[in-house]
Amino acid sequence: MIEKQLNILNIKLSRFFVVLGLLISINSIDAAEGGPCKDYGECDEFKYSLNDMASLQRGASTFLNYCYGCHSLQYSRWGRVSTDLQIPEEIFFDNLVFDKSIKPGDLMVGSMSKEQSAQWFGVAPPDLTLVSRVRGDDWIYSYLRAYYEDASKQYGVNNLVYPGTAMPNVLMALQGNQKLVCKDVPVIAKNGGEKRDNFGNTITKEKCGYLKVDEGSGELNKEEFDSLIYDLTNFLVYVGEPAKAQRERMGWYVIFYFLIFTALSALLYREYHKDYHK
Ligand code: HEC
Repeated sequence: MIEKQLNILNIKLSRFFVVLGLLISINSIDAAEGGPCKDYGECDEFKYSLNDMASLQRGASTFLNYCYGCHSLQYSRWGRVSTDLQIPEEIFFDNLVFDKSIKPGDLMVGSMSKEQSAQWFGVAPPDLTLVSRVRGDDWIYSYLRAYYEDASKQYGVNNLVYPGTAMPNVLMALQGNQKLVCKDVPVIAKNGGEKRDNFGNTITKEKCGYLKVDEGSGELNKEEFDSLIYDLTNFLVYVGEPAKAQRERMGWYVIFYFLIFTALSALLYREYHKDYHK
């Protein structure tokens, strides 16, 4: 009788682990989100760090100063952002909230009317609360760094990741004037090495489509600008799922609990088994 029950328990346990395995693999497909970056090629990899409060605070500040004029975060509340990011409410409201009639419980619905902005830009700037979930963080991180000069476009710029985007390059003053340039790159032979001529010199070929910022044309250098976009993207990942950091922390506790629980069940199983093989 007990043997039979144990058998059933065993089957149940193995089913449980199959389902757990499936869930984990579905989750990792989810983690590989981030659409293809079009003319940019592979998107640059982005690793968020939601426990880095300083980064999230800088990201929030950049967002509210440079993006919130056009983009809302309509599923977030002001108070929640200031609490989660550990910014004292008074400092937050004095420095980052420009409309003094706003209260902590209000949603961040933006300041621009959709009709008006659709008229100005052709498309209304979309709400960005969930953009990191839809596009992926790799995509956003690459997109915001892939603007280049293109006189044929309405705002004089185009974007490798989102060709023909209706969004102007709002961070140009910080980044500087980025252009597409050509470079001489080594030709790769069939065996994977660099091709050389009879004298042993590397054979090169001109390839175009590389991004390059005019030296000194922006307020920030490349590292500083990349880190600004890192913080901004990090903030958008946080906004997309405010409880993500907590959820991931909790996940470890759950796995820890499973380990202990499995060990205890194994001991119990051994204990029961003893009676049957005397
Ligand atoms: C002057 C208005 C304006 C400002 C300021 C602005 N954007 Fe945009 N943004 C737009 C418009 C318009 C689009 C829609 C582009 C399209 O679909 O062609 C857009 C699209 C986007 C998208 C793509 C969304 C999607 O899924 O298609 C992202 C991401 C984005 N903006 C991020 C930002 C960030 C971050 C900032 C601040 C640095 C910012 N934007 C500032 C107007 C603006």
